[in-house]
Amino acid sequence: MAKKPRIVIIGAGMAGLTAANKLYTSSNDLFELFVVEGGTRIGGRINTSEFYSDRVEMGATWIHGIKGSPVHQIAQQINALQGSDKPWECMDGLLDEPKTIAEGGFELNGSMIEPISTLFKNLMDFAQGNEASKWCSMSRRLGNKSIGSFLRKGLDVFWDSCKDHEELKGYGKWSRELLEEAIFAMYENTQRTYTSAGDLFSLDYEAESEYRMFPGEEITIGNGYSSIIEYLASVLPRDVIQLDRKVAKIEWDRCDSRPVKIHFLDGSFVLADHVIVTVSLGVLKAGICNDPGLFSPPLPSFKTDAISRLGYGVVNKLFLRLNGNRKPEELPSLQMVFHRSDSELRHKKIPWWMRRTATLSPIYNNASVFLSWFAGKEALELERLSNEEIIKAVTTTVSSLLSEPHNEIMSDSNSNGFEVSFVDVLKSKWGSDPLFLGSYSYVAVGSCGADFDTMAEPLPTDVYHHHPLQILFAGEATHRTHYSTTHGAYFSGIREANRLLQHYHCVGV
Ligand SMILES: Cc1cc2nc3c(=O)[nH]c(=O)nc-3n(C[C@H](O)[C@H](O)[C@H](O)COP(=O)(O)OP(=O)(O)OC[C@H]3O[C@@H](n4cnc5c(N)ncnc54)[C@H](O)[C@@H]3O)c2cc1C
Ligand SMILES: *[C@@H]1O[C@H](CO)[C@@H](O)[C@H](O)[C@H]1NC(C)=O
Ligand SMILES: *[C@@H]1O[C@H](CO)[C@@H](O)[C@H](O)[C@H]1NC(C)=O
Ligand SMILES: *[C@@H]1O[C@H](CO)[C@@H](O)[C@H](O)[C@H]1NC(C)=O
Ligand SMILES: *[C@@H]1O[C@H](CO)[C@@H](O)[C@H](O)[C@H]1NC(C)=O
Repeated sequence: MAKKPRIVIIGAGMAGLTAANKLYTSSNDLFELFVVEGGTRIGGRINTSEFYSDRVEMGATWIHGIKGSPVHQIAQQINALQGSDKPWECMDGLLDEPKTIAEGGFELNGSMIEPISTLFKNLMDFAQGNEASKWCSMSRRLGNKSIGSFLRKGLDVFWDSCKDHEELKGYGKWSRELLEEAIFAMYENTQRTYTSAGDLFSLDYEAESEYRMFPGEEITIGNGYSSIIEYLASVLPRDVIQLDRKVAKIEWDRCDSRPVKIHFLDGSFVLADHVIVTVSLGVLKAGICNDPGLFSPPLPSFKTDAISRLGYGVVNKLFLRLNGNRKPEELPSLQMVFHRSDSELRHKKIPWWMRRTATLSPIYNNASVFLSWFAGKEALELERLSNEEIIKAVTTTVSSLLSEPHNEIMSDSNSNGFEVSFVDVLKSKWGSDPLFLGSYSYVAVGSCGADFDTMAEPLPTDVYHHHPLQILFAGEATHRTHYSTTHGAYFSGIREANRLLQHYHCVGV
């Protein structure tokens, strides 16, 4: 009897488990199939967790548009959307207007914020290709092709068009221009967490219009994102998924009936006909730089060039538990407007790493757990800090925003003495975790959408090779239009499973 082709999938995240699920359910036991996972759990960048009896997500959180999303379809099918046993991070508190407060304790009303939020939304709609007329002349004048420079030029054009505005009164040392810029920066900071580009000046402008969203609402999953992962894994026989099996080296193109040899950290190895690599772009970046590298022989340069060029950033979530004695409704959902880090006017006790965080919101209406998102350098700093340091800094920030002396015009508030206290912290650490080395990919200035297609190309490239499809690539960072998402990872897993199914003439369903 001829031996079965052996397929080893590296990584038990969304991409790897989708590929395994598809291969297993479509091939009628044609393959010997393994999923080897470096960590001690399945899910990868999906990690549903618990904090004071609330269900929270350390990684993937949202279904980004429900119409056409395979993740939504699965969630619906397994009845995971509504939740059942405990409150979860559904963010319905966002339905109420958040309070927007500028450093110094100045609450901003709609008339102050709206022109800037509309401007920002129009600019991003234009960049994403939804609104093509209004900003055309400006985009042609664009010097540096980053989203960051595009946005700042848009702000300049806005200011040019409303020079004759009266001076701002009643906001302490804030001038109109400084305040408008700070509000604009708050929206930029939200964009940093959406894209994981720590600096929007390194986020490519052209590629932004290639990114696709599904239509419909954005929702979270009541039973947790991990329920999707468990569903995908549930069809696989017990011994298919092997945990705690960190791959150290992938030898390929060997003269052997099984041309791929996968070496594990513990010195053991396994031979394979095909390997599907789903490790993050961050792990690949490290794997091609380190010596010895992850691949032997090293990946061809068209591959390593794409890996190096594409962007991969750090985004982290911070959950904070309010002191139990405090009524949660006393701390509203906050949008935070800060002076620039180089400003003389800034509050000395608010640390630099808090100043680029846009929001602090309860994870559901009336929750005692609050959430902030961090990106870039700030997200990395968060990983380093102790819980005590974080609690102290956030408390200082919030207290200062909510209780610093307001001036005469704004004096209807509760003035001094607002004391908010947090008692505990849960944070993600995606940047320093060696199995991830960051959060998700983006198109960096200098790369382009086509680099995602290059990422997805299997090796060896020679189609007449007697051992084709030795290394296949799946994962979030191999999808040209849905990169950075769970459904992008899902689609990539289906794609690579189908590539093998077609190779063996069992056409995928
Ligand atoms: C904070 C955060 C928020 C997010 N929010 C959203 C969101 O709201 N909506 C959304 O759609 N997406 C979101 N994402 C992105 C989404 O989580 C990812 O795009 C997706 O889960 C990636 O799946 P993957 O299979 O490509 O990679 P991974 O999940 O990274 O899977 C790869 C697996 O490979 C393993 N591995 C790595 N190195 C080795 C090795 N040497 N040997 C063996 N195994 C190894 C890893 O442990 C991991 O399990 C978020 C991500 C983060 C971090
Ligand atoms: C997943 O979340 C738990 C917290 O519940 C944490 O202990 C663990 O480190 C997380 N894993 C990763 C890889 O982030
Ligand atoms: C917002 O505040 C400004 C100045 O403080 C005031 O003139 C204006 O009437 C307020 N608008 C609303 C809608 O409250
Ligand atoms: C152009 O982009 C780079 C990052 O790629 C950035 O460092 C630089 O400041 C930008 N220049 C301008 C004028 O926006
Ligand atoms: C939140 O709590 C307050 C006071 O405890 C209550 O009046 C309000 O109805 C609650 N809102 C919701 C949505 O539960």
